[in-house]
Amino acid sequence: MKYYVTTAIDYPNAAPHIGHSYEKIAADTVARYHRLRGDDTFFCMGVDENSQHVPRAADANGAGVIEWVDRMAGAFQGTWTALDVRPDRFIRTAIDPDHARASQELFRRAQAGGDIYKGTYTGYYCPNCNTFYEQGDLTDGKACPNHPTITPEYLEEENYFFALSRYTDRLLAILDNNPDFIMPRVWGAEIRALLQRGLRDFSVSRPVKSARVVDGKPWGIPVPGDPDHVLYVWFDALTNYATAAGLPDDPGRFAHWWPANAHVVGKDITRFHCVYWPAMLMAAGLEVPRQVAVHGFMTLEGQRISKTTGNIIDPVELVEEWGADAVRYYVLRDVAFDRDGDFVRANLAQRYVSDLANDLGNLLNRAVSMIGRYRDGIVPTVTAPEAPTDIDLRAVAEAAVSGTTEGLETWDFDGALDAAWSLVRRANQYVDENQPWKLARDPEAADRLSVVLGAVAEALRLLSTLLAPVMPTACARMRDQLGLEAATPGDWLTLSWGGFPVGTRVGTPVPLFPRKDLADSPAR
Ligand code: MSP
Repeated sequence: MKYYVTTAIDYPNAAPHIGHSYEKIAADTVARYHRLRGDDTFFCMGVDENSQHVPRAADANGAGVIEWVDRMAGAFQGTWTALDVRPDRFIRTAIDPDHARASQELFRRAQAGGDIYKGTYTGYYCPNCNTFYEQGDLTDGKACPNHPTITPEYLEEENYFFALSRYTDRLLAILDNNPDFIMPRVWGAEIRALLQRGLRDFSVSRPVKSARVVDGKPWGIPVPGDPDHVLYVWFDALTNYATAAGLPDDPGRFAHWWPANAHVVGKDITRFHCVYWPAMLMAAGLEVPRQVAVHGFMTLEGQRISKTTGNIIDPVELVEEWGADAVRYYVLRDVAFDRDGDFVRANLAQRYVSDLANDLGNLLNRAVSMIGRYRDGIVPTVTAPEAPTDIDLRAVAEAAVSGTTEGLETWDFDGALDAAWSLVRRANQYVDENQPWKLARDPEAADRLSVVLGAVAEALRLLSTLLAPVMPTACARMRDQLGLEAATPGDWLTLSWGGFPVGTRVGTPVPLFPRKDLADSPAR
């Protein structure tokens, strides 16, 4: 099976913040999960450079426009790398020539199909969200509903329009026929209501005269066949998903990857992804994506994350302090995908200590040390369960495999992690119940000791795969200490109890999440 997943492409008008990271971590986790299932997986991210507020940000920072977008692309990519987010393609919409070709191709196809026409636009344009509003949409008739400090400008201009209104019924049919098209399902109801209110055609170009000139050319992608217009930035931005799949340069590649299996986006841009984008694709005779996965917004210590409130945290600094695995684990565990959530540094510290260092780290450390000490480092072969506690551990392990899988399939990351953690907790309890250190002192209990150590190692083996999509580095280290090969594509499908290779020798126990003195931590 193939699996193609994307994130929204960020505006590079400022460096990335922890709010942007949530969606990237979630999408990377799902891409890693699909790879572990053995799916032929492709994961695309990028930056949305053609917005007119990007050159303005360059000006405000005293940088040349190209210098600025290069610097920002580096900052975004550096942040994703630090967070262990590894896309297969990172699109730069102003720089990558195949992206301009794809956007123009989509425009041409929609035009040839009769869905693009010229008309006059009147409305209020917010340059920061690149959206046209009617006066009634504005807060107090003035401010942008998403950017309280911005007063959208009244515009009257000749533009190309996309005949969105013709697509209402076809869009409703997508929702009717695919209950999982928009996940979580609550967002589907919102889009349905929007469709039922009726759609207005939208503008897909901006006049060149309102575009910033960079190196003698208007900023933006030229409208094919009309030098007086550039494409509306959302038209080209959405097309990035098709560019990465090979439109129009590589039809074979495109046929393989398209349609995308999932677009992961924030709740503020569902309309673009669940209405505009499918309609644009249908107009071009292309399949619509299988799913749009919508996440909520992250606040920081109770406040909206924004430059104006000054509460930006640099994700790279968090990674330097806590490591990528802990940051990934914390946000996916504590900020539910389907609603807004708060990033609280003290809670990250708490999760680090109790869940990661204590629960998971200690379990591994105890198992590897005891196998070293009592069994010369050789993992005892897993046997049939003999005591009620063995039966229970195995049942919890099996439930953890299905619960984690279910969570990752349905964008319920905290549910997935809860399911995996029930095994972490049960395995720790199993060690306490069976007290291997006592069994080790009783020669008569040698067989029982082997059963117990084998079962704990087996639980850890399963966890080293179950947690790998969320914590790739820690899980690689876990496997190394357990004496297991690195996880490989397809491993997820073999997660049944009893698979520890016979005769495996464990490595040296090293704390998975080193202890931290919280009193010294700036997180407090
Ligand atoms: N450039 C457009 C997207 C084009 S996709 C074809 C855009 N850019 S953005 O930089 O404003 O936002 C990028 C993504 O980050 C969006 O999915 C947005 O919802 C998400 N987030 C931005 N701030 C966020 C939080 N505070 N919390 C969670 N996600 C947030 O929109």
